[in-house]
Amino acid sequence: MKILVAGGAGFIGSHTCVALMEQGYEVVVADNFYNSSMAALEGIREITGTAPAFYEIDVTNEAAVEKIFSEHKPDGVIHFAGYKAVGESVEEPLKYYQNNLLSTIVLAKACLKHGTARFVFSSSATVYGANPSPLNEEMVLLPAENPYGETKVMSEKILIDTAKANPGFAVSLLRYFNPVGAHESAWLGEVSRIVPANLMPRLIMAAKGEMDRLMVFGDDYPTEDGTAVRDYIHVMDLAKGHVNALAHLSSGVAVHNLGTGKGTSVLELIRAFEEANGVKIPYQMAERRAGDLAECYADTKKAREELGFAAERDILTMCRDSWNFAQRRER
Ligand code: WQD
Repeated sequence: MKILVAGGAGFIGSHTCVALMEQGYEVVVADNFYNSSMAALEGIREITGTAPAFYEIDVTNEAAVEKIFSEHKPDGVIHFAGYKAVGESVEEPLKYYQNNLLSTIVLAKACLKHGTARFVFSSSATVYGANPSPLNEEMVLLPAENPYGETKVMSEKILIDTAKANPGFAVSLLRYFNPVGAHESAWLGEVSRIVPANLMPRLIMAAKGEMDRLMVFGDDYPTEDGTAVRDYIHVMDLAKGHVNALAHLSSGVAVHNLGTGKGTSVLELIRAFEEANGVKIPYQMAERRAGDLAECYADTKKAREELGFAAERDILTMCRDSWNFAQRRER
């Protein structure tokens, strides 16, 4: 089976390409390098021995997408090619609505035109808004309070309506929690062209001395140690979740959380990172970040029962693999 991976040079996309290729899928990558580089494609080749077919294009460009579908007639599409910086989305909403919605529409239209029957969409736990954790797929979605999250809710709706109108078009909506880590070989990992907003890349910057100290956004949350709790999932477990979702996708719309079901606080992540890597993280308590929730972690029952998916790698492995990759990049 041939899968088009839109955004396949990105953090989650590149790791998913490895997981797909190791399961025997043929992969075609489309990426415009907005937040990635050719190094990811080299990493995929180093790990799997094969360099996937690659198109440096913007998947909002209908003609460019049409060319790929005409040449490859993919059996499925996995769509990772979205902007994902929450803060940036508040400052530049139109940039986010145009890119994240148009890319979904262009890819879905090409699927219908060429008979591509499976569409896996990179969604996010952000769609749950202020629902209480553990979060489950039956919950009514609440406003995401930022354009990034809204583009995920809207993209899900666009795909649900398209699947309803086209019985031969099956959709898998995968709601990620907090992806971290890197491939154990350190050939792939999280690289950000823009200054990262997420905790793990900023923690690594503090560990490397690229940041004086990590600011812990809030120590007065109603949690065990007062800092916010998230469900961190290793990117290779997340990648495996996509392979499972694709294998189980046959008709209609399937919605699944991809998380570990375990919550980890900011302070607990700092401690785990220090323990896993024998480094000291300079940090200080700071004000809460606007829009942050106290807790966000998954109910993993549905993915376990329907996809046979369960994350395997623990928080120490996530910290070790992230650090190994960050250091290899220095060499
Ligand atoms: C985690 C926790 C911060 C930085 C977002 C998106 C989600 C997904 C992952 C794309 C929070 C705290 C952070 C720092 C800190 N997006 N923090 N100091 O906000 O849970 O989720 O990123 O993949 O859709 O919503 O992730 O890593 O930004 O923050 O204390 O310097 O770490 O306040 O509690 P978040 P995050």
